[in-house]
Amino acid sequence: MKVFGICASPRNDTTHWVLNQALEKLKDRNFETEMFTCMGKDIKPCMHCDYCLKNRKCIIQDDMADVYKNLRNADGIILATPVQSGSVSSNLSMIMDRTRALEAIDYNLLRGKVGMSIAVGGDRTGGQDFAHMSSITYFMIHGIIPVSGGPFGSNLGASFWSRDCLDEIINDAYGMESLERTLIEFENFLNKYI
Ligand SMILES: Cc1cc2nc3c(=O)[nH]c(=O)nc-3n(C[C@H](O)[C@H](O)[C@H](O)COP(=O)(O)O)c2cc1C
Repeated sequence: MKVFGICASPRNDTTHWVLNQALEKLKDRNFETEMFTCMGKDIKPCMHCDYCLKNRKCIIQDDMADVYKNLRNADGIILATPVQSGSVSSNLSMIMDRTRALEAIDYNLLRGKVGMSIAVGGDRTGGQDFAHMSSITYFMIHGIIPVSGGPFGSNLGASFWSRDCLDEIINDAYGMESLERTLIEFENFLNKYI
């Protein structure tokens, strides 16, 4: 089964490190993995021109082409975002909006896939849960099955406290536990529903 992870930070640092850990663990469990990172990429906002509804493709030519291809092929989707202004990053918000074009092509394109959320905040309670809720809401709108790690420590997904530093996030044992729990459920759901 294929898992596609999106690193929605504008740089490859703490969120990238966490997503990479997640994908490596899934690879060890025999999943095929692919990562898209927003660093240096050209992703423009949706203009609500409705070209996609009439022509069944997005009018904007940019790096979303890669995201579209990988979302189509994926069985599981991981949205990994730094917390920005108390929610998901602007990169992730743009990617979410732009997938409207996928459903203009085929309404069922994303439905039935399994999704999990990773949120990395510089502060201990900087809005990780709001970021998760934004990703989970996105999953629900698009018929993607949202998973969490369950009620004992990773209620909405994998939550990290980076203290704005790669050297610190590596020591976030609680964050790693929440990642492990969420990955176990993600794998269970993929095996059960896909
Ligand atoms: C524009 C901006 C807004 C941010 N807002 C928040 C916030 O609301 N809450 C929080 O905990 N951290 C916030 N941070 C800190 C980042 O979430 C944190 O440094 C994170 O580890 C960055 O991930 P990255 O290393 O993958 O880029 C913000 C950072 C930036 C650049």
